[in-house]
Amino acid sequence: MRCSWMGLALLLPSLGLCAAIQWLSLAANGTQVAWDNPQDCRLLASDALARLCRRHLEAMPSLVEAARQTKAVCQQTFANSRWNCSSVEGTPHLAPDLQRGTRESAFVYALASSAASHSIARACASGQVPFCFCGSSPSEAPHPSFQWGGCGDNLPFGLQLGSAFVDGPMKFSKAGRQISRVLNLHNNAVGRQVLSDSLETMCKCHGVSGSCTVKTCWKGLRDLATIGSELKSKYLEATQVMPWLVGSRRQLAPRGGRLRPLKADELAYLVHSPTYCLKNPKLGSLGTQDRPCNKTSAGSGGCRLLCCGRGYNTYAERVEEKCRCRYHWCCYVTCKKCQRVVEKHVCK
Ligand SMILES: *[C@@H]1O[C@H](CO)[C@@H](O)[C@H](O)[C@H]1NC(C)=O
Ligand SMILES: *[C@@H]1O[C@H](CO)[C@@H](O)[C@H](O)[C@H]1NC(C)=O
Ligand SMILES: *[C@@H]1O[C@H](CO)[C@@H](O)[C@H](O)[C@H]1NC(C)=O
Repeated sequence: MRCSWMGLALLLPSLGLCAAIQWLSLAANGTQVAWDNPQDCRLLASDALARLCRRHLEAMPSLVEAARQTKAVCQQTFANSRWNCSSVEGTPHLAPDLQRGTRESAFVYALASSAASHSIARACASGQVPFCFCGSSPSEAPHPSFQWGGCGDNLPFGLQLGSAFVDGPMKFSKAGRQISRVLNLHNNAVGRQVLSDSLETMCKCHGVSGSCTVKTCWKGLRDLATIGSELKSKYLEATQVMPWLVGSRRQLAPRGGRLRPLKADELAYLVHSPTYCLKNPKLGSLGTQDRPCNKTSAGSGGCRLLCCGRGYNTYAERVEEKCRCRYHWCCYVTCKKCQRVVEKHVCK
């Protein structure tokens, strides 16, 4: 399946962000093949990606895992928000919310980019892939209380191969607008920067009954969920940018205020997002009607904000739970099943 140019069809400013995160479709498709035959690379919709796939076939299961994790972490991070990251399900087709250079697409690009490198770096440490090894121990002398050991995540290798997959197809493609490529490459790099910053010293104790007489430490990456919440803070503070021509090179500069270069650690977007309150397929907004909400919360998952002032419907749901549990000597517990009615709320 080729990339669709839905933006053009609807006469919206399509940025041609097409080939860029198509590989996320591997979350749905990628486990159907064994990745032991170059023919398996036909699952990838773009020629550039299929070429990379054939060259690095043994890295593909890591990329499939990265796609799966990107989807899960994005949806979990935005579970209580009006925009809930459901459009990643549609890849390789890109819905407009991921195609127009919005704040949301900035987040998805950065997360996907860090996930690709994360997954490859971890695979190296697992010792289960033939193409790379444990990350090398830091050259700095260890603290007197521990020694370097174990097997670290191979961040340099993850960054190198990960960016070949996520940046490569954009760097070499001439499709789409140049400004959109500059934007995506920037946000990809922000994702990898947050990933690199998450590398920390992790330790394990040895010795009689956990006495920790010997401690070995290695450098490991935080979970993708942690990186996702870091990127969410950057998403909330993302900077709107405009094209900035420096010589003949297109770059990005923050809009409004004094002209300054974009910082390497800020997520960037070109167009404002809709409120995502009402359904508008042209903008990739699903609307929040029928979304479950929390009546008592004043936060983003609360009915007031999530339902955009439209109010909510209440219904009763019967739930079954364990009750009247009794302890029997010795040693088991029996419970009865009780039904309870709970009140649920969904946006109007
Ligand atoms: C799975 O791969 C095929 C190409 O072989 C493609 O047509 C289809 O859209 C993919 N499905 C998903 C959910 O990405
Ligand atoms: C996101 O919201 C849409 C629209 O209300 C809903 O159909 C979908 O199930 C939600 N997805 C997730 C993962 O919660
Ligand atoms: C709803 O929000 C309140 C207040 O933030 C919280 O204490 C409660 O656990 C939430 N309920 C559910 C079902 O998430």
